[in-house]
Amino acid sequence: MMMRTTRRLLAAAALALPFVGTAQAQTWPERPITMVIPFAPGGPTDVVGRMIAESMGRDLGQNVLVQNVGGAGGTTGTARVAAAAPDGYNILLHNIGIATAPTLYRRLPYDPVTAFETIGLVTATPMIWLARPGLPVTNFAEMIRLVRERGEAVNLANAGLGSASQLCGTLFQASLGVRVTAVSYTGSGPIYPELMADRLDIYCDQTTSASSFVTSGRVRGLAVTTAEPMAQLPGIPTAGQAGLPGFEIGIWHGVYAPKGTPTPIVMRLNQALRVALADPRVVTRMNELGSPPEPVERQNPDVHRAHLVAEIARWRPVLQAAGQFAD
Ligand code: MLT
Repeated sequence: MMMRTTRRLLAAAALALPFVGTAQAQTWPERPITMVIPFAPGGPTDVVGRMIAESMGRDLGQNVLVQNVGGAGGTTGTARVAAAAPDGYNILLHNIGIATAPTLYRRLPYDPVTAFETIGLVTATPMIWLARPGLPVTNFAEMIRLVRERGEAVNLANAGLGSASQLCGTLFQASLGVRVTAVSYTGSGPIYPELMADRLDIYCDQTTSASSFVTSGRVRGLAVTTAEPMAQLPGIPTAGQAGLPGFEIGIWHGVYAPKGTPTPIVMRLNQALRVALADPRVVTRMNELGSPPEPVERQNPDVHRAHLVAEIARWRPVLQAAGQFAD
């Protein structure tokens, strides 16, 4: 008798589950949504997150509150969202680092492919090589020469293993066959004061946070990682033109929700993201920073998921060859 009752209860619960999600989705959102940025304030991920969060919140009728959770190259904040309730009130904005971490961290507390619902791709941001004001070089070629000469006497900042800046630094060292000394921070935000004070030598950052420091002359921009020079940063050559042919990197960003977030909520979040990426104020600002929104067809959750899977596979052999693992 007991077994039969239990079976009936379990069957009823299984039938009710999708409707619970649907019922929840019908009244969602009823309170502010948290968007975790897995890096410190003031960095490129934070810049992009705050741009879209405000516009998404207007569309959803509830604030999208940015919460910076830095550490371990973005994996600390990412793990937090992976473990969060799949109720639509916890989302993540992350960059290419979500696809490099599975190779760099052999004991990662989440699998990005199975731990998240993909909401949509946001933007692909160029990078720029930066030098402290007092570094004795006048261009990218001279920086390369200095790195070849001084090797590990040169310190290169990054936002932790698994960050975009660390990926750029890894590719740079592999291209030259030279090792420098990497100095990790919780994001670009805390790096700039050190760079401006001549306490760090070089850094590879995204133009979304670097542009204002370069145009104001507070740090020096030596080369961009785009195929062609950027109109937003006149006078700065590409890395290809300045000494490293083919050194091109674009840092893609996507929005995620914990696996199991009801599909109606996932689709409504995607709709709010699309509205944000069509918002004239957001589009203008992103274009000014050299990081336009992804084309509409790439703002699709399925395209985002396919891109995530492909990028994990793409970077695995490259990072394994570089031999820089976090654990
Ligand atoms: C990165 O390297 O991934 C960025 O610097 C992270 C950030 O600060 O947004």
